[in-house]
This record gives sequence, C-alpha cells and structure tokens, in this order.
Amino acid sequence: MSVLNWNDYDDNGAVTEAPEPTQPEPAAAAESPAGAPTGLEALESGAERVAVGDKRIINARADVNQLLPLKYHWAWEKYLAGCNNHWMPTEVSMQADIALWKSRDGLTDDERAMIMRNLGFFASSESLVANNVVLAIYRYITNPECRQYLLRQAFEEAVHTHTFQYVVDSLGLSEGEVFNMYREVPSITDKAAWALKYTRNLEEGNFDTSTDEGAQNFLRDLVAFYVVFEGMWFYTGFAQILSLGRRNKMTGIAEQYQYILRDESLHLNFGIDVINQIKLENPHLWTPEFQAEVIEMLKEATQLEIAYAEDTMPNGLLGMNAQMCEEYMHFICNRRCSQLGLPELFPGARNPFPWMSEAIDLKKEKNFFEARVTEYQTGGSLKW
Ligand SMILES: [Fe+2]
Ligand SMILES: [Fe+2]
Repeated sequence: MSVLNWNDYDDNGAVTEAPEPTQPEPAAAAESPAGAPTGLEALESGAERVAVGDKRIINARADVNQLLPLKYHWAWEKYLAGCNNHWMPTEVSMQADIALWKSRDGLTDDERAMIMRNLGFFASSESLVANNVVLAIYRYITNPECRQYLLRQAFEEAVHTHTFQYVVDSLGLSEGEVFNMYREVPSITDKAAWALKYTRNLEEGNFDTSTDEGAQNFLRDLVAFYVVFEGMWFYTGFAQILSLGRRNKMTGIAEQYQYILRDESLHLNFGIDVINQIKLENPHLWTPEFQAEVIEMLKEATQLEIAYAEDTMPNGLLGMNAQMCEEYMHFICNRRCSQLGLPELFPGARNPFPWMSEAIDLKKEKNFFEARVTEYQTGGSLKW
C-alpha cells in the first residue's frame, strides 16, 4: 500500500513540469473594481450566474463564494493532492528518538545543538506561514478554487505546528527554548523579521490590490512566503534532519520532516503557479524594475540562509558543512528563479546533497526507516 505520490516531483520536491498557467480571458482584463471582493459583501439578489471568464486570481468580478465552474484546474488538483497526502505527527513513533535523545553518547554536542536550532526555526516559522496564509493572502485572493487550496494549506500548517508540539513533548524539551527561539537566536530572528515586513505591508489600513502598488506589494508577499520561506529556507532544515535520518538517528523526526517536505513542495508550487498566473493576467505589474527587486529579495534570502547554516553547523557534521549548505542554497535559488521566469542567480551551482532525492522518495524511505505509512487515499469506509 502506498499513500505517496512522488512521481510528479523532482529531487527538490518541486513539480518537474509546472502546469501551464491558465490563459487569461480577454474579457477578464477589464478595469478592476475598487477594492478586492472578500465574499462578505451584501447579497445581490437575482445577480447573474458566474462566468468563468470573470474569475481572476486578484481583483475578480466573479462571486468568490461560488466554487463552480472551475477556472484554475491546477489549484483544484493541488487541493486534491493535499487531501491525499493527509498525515498526523502522532502516527509516527518517537520511541527510538526518545531513547537516543536521552542516551549519553548517542548524539554529539554539535548534533544536539543543530537539532535544537532546527526545531526552534521550524516551530515558529510554521505559525508565521499560517498567519500569512490566513490573515494576509486569503483576504486578497479572489478566486474560490485557490481559496479552497489555501484552506487546506492552513490546516497543513496547523499539522506542522502540531509536529513541533509533539516533538517537544515527546523528547521533554524546554517549550520556551524551542518556541521562543525566533526571538532569541539572531540568525533565526533575522529570517523571521525579513519575512514579517512583507506580510505587515498587507495589514496597512488602505491596502488594496486594485492599485498597481498594492498588487506589487501582494506579489512581494507571495515571493517572500511561498518562494523564500517555504521554497528556500525550509530546505537547509530538511537536509539537516534527513541527513540524521540517513544515519539512523532521530528517525521519528526525520519521518515527520519527510511528510512536511512533501506538503511544503505542494505549497511552494501552488505559490509559484499563483504568482505566474497573476503575472499572466496583469503583465504590467512584472516590470524590469519589479523583477530586479524580486532578484534582490532572493539574493538577500540566500544570504540570510547562509548565516543560518553557519550558525547551526559551525563545525560541520553528518557529512555536511556550512559551505555545502551555501552551495545547496545557490542550487535551490536557481531553481526558484527559473520557476519564476528569472535568470539564474548562481550559474553552475550544483546540488551537493544528491541523497536528498532518495531521502525524499518516501516509497523507498518506508523500508529505509522501517517506518509505518498510513494509507489515507483509499481509506476504509466509516463505521458507525
Ligand atoms: Fe508548513
Ligand atoms: Fe507550508
């Protein structure tokens, strides 16, 4: 039995062939209404039925409360894929991890320090991402099938936060040390602060995607969270923990990270598709100046991640070191650039962790970690 659909993913968890963005309907390119509809407007009794051509990612005229007819089938497909990937952290046994964590010499001091900082980074990052989805992105996405995916993503982020609660509880870690780390460890604070400024832009009282400035701010937020946070910054952390798992250490956490990685690769690719579709529907937003700005964001993000790698692995461990993580981040950054239609920032960068492709393949991992995989796709019928 297999719950795992990795055939659409390449060695970085990214969809190999991004689906073609839906071509915009000429009629939909007409003037935007003042302020994006939220779906909470007063009902207009007897209003016309939804025309697919009126559906848009931002600033739609079509009723956002009506899912059908679908326009963006890629969003619906991702919603279904997310549902098929359902998992819960409590299904993963932590017994081996607990025994190793409590043993005196099962882990080196460097490994313990890396694990703590890794958990600390993810523990609050999952909440930051969830808050951005629920409090910023959802409000301004005016398409119901994309909103359907966002609702699924929001739940997955809750499952991810639950994972860190479960790990802290299982290993008996200091709750405050792990969850407050993003306010105590500078390399983690710097990343969180960098991303927060983009979601805070959307909180301003007069924020409005119907202006070019507002729509570009919205795109910046999508880049910061989907491309950088979920698409770049999570990857060093995944590599660190999966490297432990390859050495048969902390295999419970490693298995949970594999599930998170599978979820995150869908989040990333949804974000890329949304950005590319907004570009297609609003080409005037994607100016050379704006592209230069996005490139600058990706450069800054790469630097912040390199600082985090140096901070979490000052001495190198598990066949990894900060320099290799820098190369890996350059490689990942190049992939994100090409997904966005931008030139690669680090030509020639190679993947120093080719084993990530195997580690990501959960079908192999099932044997590798001797882990239990729960089948949700075909799940049994309900018994009352
Ligand atoms: Fe997440
Ligand atoms: Fe995510």
